[in-house]
Amino acid sequence: MNDEMTVLLVEDDPDMQLACRQALSLAGIRSRALDAAEPALPIITPGYRGVVVTDMRLPQGDGLSLVKYARSVDPELPCIMITGHGDINLAVDAMREGAYDFITKPFSPEKLVDSVRRALDKRRLALQAGQARSAPAPAAGKGSDGLGRLVGSSAGMQAVRRLIAEIAASPVDVLVHGETGTGKELVAQSLHELSGRSSGPFVALNCGGMPDNLLDSELFGHEAGAFTGAQKRRIGKIEHASGGTLFLDELESMPMGMQVKLLRVLQERKLERLGSNTSVAVDVRVVAATKENLVEKARSGQFRLDLYYRLNVVTVDLPPLRRRTDDIAELLAHFFVLAASRFGRPVPPVNADLLERLAGYAWPGNVRELRNLADCIALGVSTPLLGATLQYASSELASPRSLAESVEEYERKLILEELQRNDGSLARSARALRVAKTTLNDKIRRYGISVAPAEPREG
Ligand SMILES: Nc1ncnc2c1ncn2[C@@H]1O[C@H](COP(=O)(O)OP(=O)(O)OP(=O)(O)O)[C@@H](O)[C@H]1O
Ligand SMILES: [Mg+2]
Repeated sequence: MNDEMTVLLVEDDPDMQLACRQALSLAGIRSRALDAAEPALPIITPGYRGVVVTDMRLPQGDGLSLVKYARSVDPELPCIMITGHGDINLAVDAMREGAYDFITKPFSPEKLVDSVRRALDKRRLALQAGQARSAPAPAAGKGSDGLGRLVGSSAGMQAVRRLIAEIAASPVDVLVHGETGTGKELVAQSLHELSGRSSGPFVALNCGGMPDNLLDSELFGHEAGAFTGAQKRRIGKIEHASGGTLFLDELESMPMGMQVKLLRVLQERKLERLGSNTSVAVDVRVVAATKENLVEKARSGQFRLDLYYRLNVVTVDLPPLRRRTDDIAELLAHFFVLAASRFGRPVPPVNADLLERLAGYAWPGNVRELRNLADCIALGVSTPLLGATLQYASSELASPRSLAESVEEYERKLILEELQRNDGSLARSARALRVAKTTLNDKIRRYGISVAPAEPREG
């Protein structure tokens, strides 16, 4: 197991899953097992170091859609289908969709290992060829779909777009502020694309969740022998971004010591690698993103005010989705189209009833949450994310409901509305609905209703 290639195994039958994992492990092949298609989606990225093995029949979604999705993300990613013996037509469809191979149940461990080995060999070659073609990797982008495409015609988004267009070409560094999922990274990418630097790299670095010394060498690079373990010289992200844009995500998490060093780079446009005395000139534009109020953080001594002022020359403030509910319809339509093409499904309709329900929701996860919801609706998958709302929406796409289901649906809807009316207060909602608090609580749990948090006050 020397090359870190992984088999992503999607199989809902626990016995079958275990048997496959054991067979692969005995052959020295690493695997990662999931029992549904949905959690596999975020794992499958362009250049995924491995292959996919999926059962044809899965409880939510199906193997064929997963293959289509994988092929749309990376056309060279080999996918192997496991099919039941009656599924030969489906298997043929899968091969037509570009599946690499299919194995019919029941099969021997050797059969699986043999097919996987060949697929891994093919993958290894494709990845090597890809590296040769495109070294160094262009950016830490997340796929091309939303690139530079900021959807939304609310007054808030129009102002954001105007500001971006105004400042993109000028050499100023930019701070992007907004709650989680409001599109900070998308704004950074748009700034990059519209700047004169779009042929240069877009390099993203998350300042959070990394030990200080690692972040230090990630940002500034090091010379060979700078510290134990530093065998070779390493170029840091700042230098890598030369000629392009450096996107510093979660700036609020940057350790104070690093903030001083970053400030110097911003002022002097040069840096020293760890373990070196010579400075290197760098030509980067920095776009930094934060979820927090940096002035507040500075007041409590957790952020350097001078760095804040240096970056604050231009701030793009992204309003949370609950303040631009006008955008929901447009965003939903946009995400439905993306989801439908990704999953090979029909584009779900955006209807007034669905929109009405969504408009009352607080969207703590903002646009990302809406995007996830659109994916689920397109796939017809239910999720506790929006409780009643989503189940209602997806059941609309599915078969007609029984009487009992309709009654439950109605009850669910009443509870959700009452909770929204009462800012999520259980006691007040129970009183209004004239049921015991414990009964209401049971129902909330049974229906998977998530009580939206009250809108936070501005700092
Ligand atoms: N205005 C928009 N139009 C289209 N897609 C959007 C828009 N805003 C956000 N998105 C999409 O929503 C998702 C979240 O956006 P993004 O990653 O830019 O958010 P973020 O503010 O960086 O979130 P976090 O703070 O959690 O990192 C992405 O898939 C992005 O493409
Ligand atoms: Mg982000």
